[in-house]
Amino acid sequence: MRDYDAALDAADPGWRDEFHVPRWGELPRHTEASPHDPGAAYPEIAYFAGNSLGLQPKATRPALELELDRWEHWGVEGQLEGPRPWKDYDDDLKEPAARLVGASPDEVVIMNSLTVNLHVLMATFYKPQGRRTKILMEHLVFPSDGYAIASQVEWHGLDPQDHVVRLRPRPGEDILRTEDVIAAAREIGDELQQVIFSGVNYLTGEWMDMPAITAAGHEVGAVVGWDLAHAAGNVPLALHDWEVDWAAWCSYKYLNSGPGAMAGAFIHERYATDRHTHRLAGWWGTDADIRFEMRETFDPPATADAWQVSNPSIFSMSPVETSLKIFDRIGMTALRERSLRLTGYLRELFDEVIADVGSDAMSIVTPADPQRHGCQLSVRFTTDIKALAATLRDEDGVVADTRKPDIIRFAPVPLYSTYLDCWRAADALRRRLG
Ligand SMILES: Cc1ncc(COP(=O)(O)O)c(C=O)c1O
Repeated sequence: MRDYDAALDAADPGWRDEFHVPRWGELPRHTEASPHDPGAAYPEIAYFAGNSLGLQPKATRPALELELDRWEHWGVEGQLEGPRPWKDYDDDLKEPAARLVGASPDEVVIMNSLTVNLHVLMATFYKPQGRRTKILMEHLVFPSDGYAIASQVEWHGLDPQDHVVRLRPRPGEDILRTEDVIAAAREIGDELQQVIFSGVNYLTGEWMDMPAITAAGHEVGAVVGWDLAHAAGNVPLALHDWEVDWAAWCSYKYLNSGPGAMAGAFIHERYATDRHTHRLAGWWGTDADIRFEMRETFDPPATADAWQVSNPSIFSMSPVETSLKIFDRIGMTALRERSLRLTGYLRELFDEVIADVGSDAMSIVTPADPQRHGCQLSVRFTTDIKALAATLRDEDGVVADTRKPDIIRFAPVPLYSTYLDCWRAADALRRRLG
């Protein structure tokens, strides 16, 4: 395997300085109980788990403290008064959130958490009627989506066994082929009520062909929704132009907004402007100008804001805003370019390790085509992945997460990961597997 070349990081430094990168000595498992510090050569850990929980921007704490100060000094006055009343707090998040997912500001809203948003959106969009009852989704889905979708089907008195079609890759393959998704949609035809897929699959890292699948669903008269947990902030999106009906994402992965941070939702404008659209209602979904008049009637605006049910947590929204500002300043184009360079480098290094240790011991599951992946590389091992990941973490300072039975996911995040991180991961694998 080649040596590390520091010129790579010097030429393409990313934005790591804007983030807190965990250091060996700070991790709970490396406190007094474990004085041994094998990572002394690299005080910072090589963090590949930004697809699970993104790192903390340095700007997050001061922004959050500002809101704590307002609460401390103003109490309830902060809701309606001051330079930035909490009742309008989300206004400033709309434009950057819209640019992130390729939407108009009226089509996006920051609210709830991801699975809650899946339910809130399915309450509007899953309307089984007559023959049109079926949902097409991926078999290898994050479990929460599977539970949510099945429970929605049951909510309508239907059996998920008969009304949910979970599409598997072909035998011997890991990756779903777009042509197979399109063929499945056509085959289900007028029984297909809805297509729900992950934009980027959590397990394989495959970026689905979102425009083609959206068009295929529409061709047979179905609604098309996307879970963008692993896509938002990872790959460029154009939800409005792709005619996506709805989408939801979380903000704690690539959006670096902290554990359990508030999620996002997209609803195409054709629904918000349709007076007959049905949704779950709450006071925060009424027009902001009249919300505090406490009227008896529900008066929603013709925007995605109408889907809000409760007033949002400002302390959870502030980190989302901090993060969106970073994305807005740098832009998805620059991030995606660096992402392709970094992930391309990691793949080359991993290929060199595979040449050393053999493709039986290690193989890359994520597609190589840049149009079919974000920054994550999912790697299959024949050794015990739990033990391997623990060794990488404890002995080499390389943090990546495992997914049963045999995959470790490595996500070099263009905002803060480095070429050195990538080299350390490959070097550690070569040593541990060799
Ligand atoms: C694809 C996907 N969907 C849903 C979820 C669940 O998210 P939440 O707990 O925020 O509802 C996750 C969490 O990692 C996810 O990766």
